[in-house]
Amino acid sequence: EEGLHATKYPWVHEKYLKTFDHQALRRGFQVYQEVCASCHSLSRIPYRSLVGVTHTVDEAKAMAEENEYDSEPNDEGEIEKRPGKLSDYLPSPYKNDEAARAANNGALPPDLSLMVKARHGGCNYIFSLLTGYPEEPPAGATVQEGLNFNPYFPGTGIAMARVLYNELVEYEDGTPASTSQMAKDVVEFLNWAAEPEMDQRKKMGMKVLAITSALFALSVWVKRYKWSAIK
Ligand code: HEM
Repeated sequence: EEGLHATKYPWVHEKYLKTFDHQALRRGFQVYQEVCASCHSLSRIPYRSLVGVTHTVDEAKAMAEENEYDSEPNDEGEIEKRPGKLSDYLPSPYKNDEAARAANNGALPPDLSLMVKARHGGCNYIFSLLTGYPEEPPAGATVQEGLNFNPYFPGTGIAMARVLYNELVEYEDGTPASTSQMAKDVVEFLNWAAEPEMDQRKKMGMKVLAITSALFALSVWVKRYKWSAIK
């Protein structure tokens, strides 16, 4: 069963010549960290990839150090705990899928690294999903025990309850944290997570455009110059 078709929103980063809004990515990371990370992993993202994107080196190092990771086995083959480093990946909230299901009524919160690319509708779908929980299911709708009604979710009964509410986080840049602002920011951040090379690609595209236009203009000028004698 198809979910309700998501509204198409004018995402700035989807425009041809626009890169990600890095202030929004930083806010989106904060939403991921403070809200989503208690259930969803982002297992393809190492701390180092945040450097120069959402955080400074020192900030990323400090965040990594807040977590513990297993060390390499020592001479006796023992594994110890060590603080995180830039090369470590963001930690998962659960030890394994079994523990994740046990904590979520049997449902598995999927890894969010590639979610924007994995789901039909991408950014529009996830934004609609996060902001699309009605106060009450519509009259006549049946919702299975333990599930929540969301018209955008295929099947309309989703194990994830509404998670975003106005002012749930406090943004350091003073942006009012409305439900839709947080949804927008976290979706942009998740799009970056799924396509971290997008900015590079667009900047390269702009250079290619600039250089080929210049070369074309030059060739027009040369052609006219060479032929001007016999015109
Ligand atoms: C599913 C995003 C927070 C539990 C999902 C899906 C997305 C998502 C995109 C996949 C929906 C689909 O399959 O089409 C987010 C974001 C969050 C967030 C962006 C933070 C803003 C949470 C939290 C919990 C949670 C805090 C746990 C309390 C789940 C579960 C599912 C799920 C259990 C599986 C739903 C099902 O298959 O029925 N989430 N989530 N999520 N999420 Fe979240």
